[in-house]
Amino acid sequence: MNETKPPEFKTQFAEDVFKGLTSYPKKISSKFFYDEKGDELFQKIMELPEYYLTGKEYDILLQHREEIGDAFSSFNGFDLIELGAGDGKKTKVLLRHFEEKSYDYKYLPVDISKNVLEQLSDSLLQEFPALDVEPQQGTYANVLTRLADYRDRKKVILFLGSNIGNLTPEEAVAFLKKISSAMHEKDLFFMGVDQKKEPQVILDAYNDSAGVTEAFNKNLLTRMNRELEADFDPETFIHWPLYNPETGVAKSYLVSTKEQTVQINALNLEVHFHKWETIHTEVSQKYDDTSIAWLAEEAGLEMAGSWADKDNCYKNYLFKRTGL
Ligand code: AVI
Repeated sequence: MNETKPPEFKTQFAEDVFKGLTSYPKKISSKFFYDEKGDELFQKIMELPEYYLTGKEYDILLQHREEIGDAFSSFNGFDLIELGAGDGKKTKVLLRHFEEKSYDYKYLPVDISKNVLEQLSDSLLQEFPALDVEPQQGTYANVLTRLADYRDRKKVILFLGSNIGNLTPEEAVAFLKKISSAMHEKDLFFMGVDQKKEPQVILDAYNDSAGVTEAFNKNLLTRMNRELEADFDPETFIHWPLYNPETGVAKSYLVSTKEQTVQINALNLEVHFHKWETIHTEVSQKYDDTSIAWLAEEAGLEMAGSWADKDNCYKNYLFKRTGL
């Protein structure tokens, strides 16, 4: 590998790509999947028959909205803060129920993507014209530091879609610790988590027959081409997901099918790939009740409820802060 360190990185993407492609084994974080094209592909993934997560969570929320609503509601109202709100499709099941119940609450959807937040705000205005919405753009880290400021009334923090799975268990503990430390008495944290299950079902969810997940993974290559003036040929990489039923980790890779050197001009970097060399691009950790109990204990959270589909394929957990 031939490299000259660029003087400075213009974006987080530039810095992470430089670090990730000059380390061994090579890696790039899945958080960079979500540019405009990636957001669009992820919407398609959520509609795929193999990608059961979205439909399962939707069904759980629909079926248990009454009980979930009872747990969230409070005599002087609440602030509903959703981390990684996305298109809000599943959350709207709850919002519709809260509207029927005339709950007094404010909805604060948080997302890193401005584009996603704008679309969500427009659709909320159409579907829930009376809803008090305050969109928050930013990374989870930025928003978490502001979270503790919401202290006037009960806050309920939502983290749906098994987004926790895109962190390693160690990162997940650190993240949940930040959440729990921002929680006051009566505050709640509600999280959707994909569960360990038949390995083939999980593998198929990340290797759909229509090739949408492959395009989603390879979007990282085209994003580098566009934003960092790179010359990756996506045809020379294959999308390769794996699932380990022992650890519950699903991982995705891009595998170079030939020996090649790629130029990343904006980084003044040449990256060499051996034939069959990998770029690790995503972790989608699966949990079960035991590993979730461990995670919660490490993070200072105490379980206050859980809801699942009939096959325990997917679960939504409710937590309060330990010791309050
Ligand atoms: C957003 N996240 C929870 C998805 C997952 O299942 O890890 C992203 C995804 N990657 C491939 N398909 C979907």
